[in-house]
Amino acid sequence: MTKVLLIGNGAREHAIATALSQSDVEIHAHMERKNPGIAKLCKEFTIGSTTETKQIPDLADIDYAIVGPEAPLAVGVSDFIIAQGVPCIAPCKAAAMIETSKTFARLVIQQTTPKANPRFISARSLDDLRRFEKEVGVENIVVKPNGLTGGKGVKIFGEHLKSRDELEKYAISLLTKEGVVVLEEKLEGIEFTMQAFSDGNRLELMPLVRDYKRAFDGDTGPNTGSMGSLSTPDHGLPYVSVEDFEAAKAIMDATLIGIKKKAGSIFKGILYGQFMKTETGVKVIEYNARFGDPEAMNVLSILSTPMDEVCQRIIDGNLGPVEFENKATVCVYVVPEGYPGPDVVKDSPIDTSVATSAQLYYASVYEKEGEILTTGSRAIGVLGKGDSVAQAREIAYANASRIKGRLRFRSDIAE
Ligand code: AMP
Ligand code: GLY
Repeated sequence: MTKVLLIGNGAREHAIATALSQSDVEIHAHMERKNPGIAKLCKEFTIGSTTETKQIPDLADIDYAIVGPEAPLAVGVSDFIIAQGVPCIAPCKAAAMIETSKTFARLVIQQTTPKANPRFISARSLDDLRRFEKEVGVENIVVKPNGLTGGKGVKIFGEHLKSRDELEKYAISLLTKEGVVVLEEKLEGIEFTMQAFSDGNRLELMPLVRDYKRAFDGDTGPNTGSMGSLSTPDHGLPYVSVEDFEAAKAIMDATLIGIKKKAGSIFKGILYGQFMKTETGVKVIEYNARFGDPEAMNVLSILSTPMDEVCQRIIDGNLGPVEFENKATVCVYVVPEGYPGPDVVKDSPIDTSVATSAQLYYASVYEKEGEILTTGSRAIGVLGKGDSVAQAREIAYANASRIKGRLRFRSDIAE
């Protein structure tokens, strides 16, 4: 039987494990903290760091590995696995820079599809910062850490930064820490996620997803890992025209080639593009080198081609068409009260025993004496699947509200 090592312990990896478990495969999971959902689906699991190669379990019997989160990619866990002769569904460290370095990503786009970039600078000094301020105006600037921050390091003037002083203070703090800070022109528009499987040479697109990153209703408050998401039965989104779709696809295709050229290494795994539809065309907000969370739940819950088969085709470098059901999906993230603030409720019990018709994906929770408890982060992704967005939404919300505990969720996902 095919043996798969799955690395990671979030809701995204729970969704990957669920998809894999539809095939005749044996899942071996390596997690930093026991995810109760993954634990139920796997043959065995190990607990340990996912970013220290010394702690990755023995690969002798493993047919292939899947790395879910970005942090292991940044330190070359894929390279480590591949070096032992085990294929890996996730890019090597050099190719993963499309996510792990915002500067690398902007430069690849600059060389392939420059119109998809906002004006930007990778500032290495206060002079660079001031020059960019003059060029675009301080009120039009977005400040981003160059490296990984779990989607929480981006600060926008006017929303998170209220004055030039505040902006400079934040930019300088990042500059001091990393030696570089990315500044971008603030774009206006609506966002969409385009994910694709990559065999290194070509992409196979997944249904588009709308992700709700802000903490509170009406898209207000700080950015979070995400509070929910939706996809539609025709795999598009009402505000994404055929032209927008084709533009985003062309940008992704060009990026795949651009990565190979700039990193000197092909990109195998999942390429995730976050796009914004603006008045001057479709622009890239960011790339990820993995499934999105919660976007993985949307697309993998309607994947018709067996996940194991898709992985085998990626390994063979011969990715044919990948099919998805024509169903709508809505994911609502249930989070602890106070999330994402400093007074977030931690170590509080959750009772999911009454939630039934939706699929529940465990995110940042842990088990103690048979109880499931919150950490300070997102707890459970509740996914509804239906013939229409309204039906999927109803299922997701009915079940989200049945989960008991000191929890909250946004009430306007997929409205
Ligand atoms: P990121 O971590 O790069 O995805 O950024 C988080 C969020 O910040 C995005 O989903 C956008 O809503 C916002 N954002 C990032 N870059 C820009 C930009 N150049 N202009 C406007 N909003 C942005
Ligand atoms: N949903 C955004 C992300 O996974 O980065």
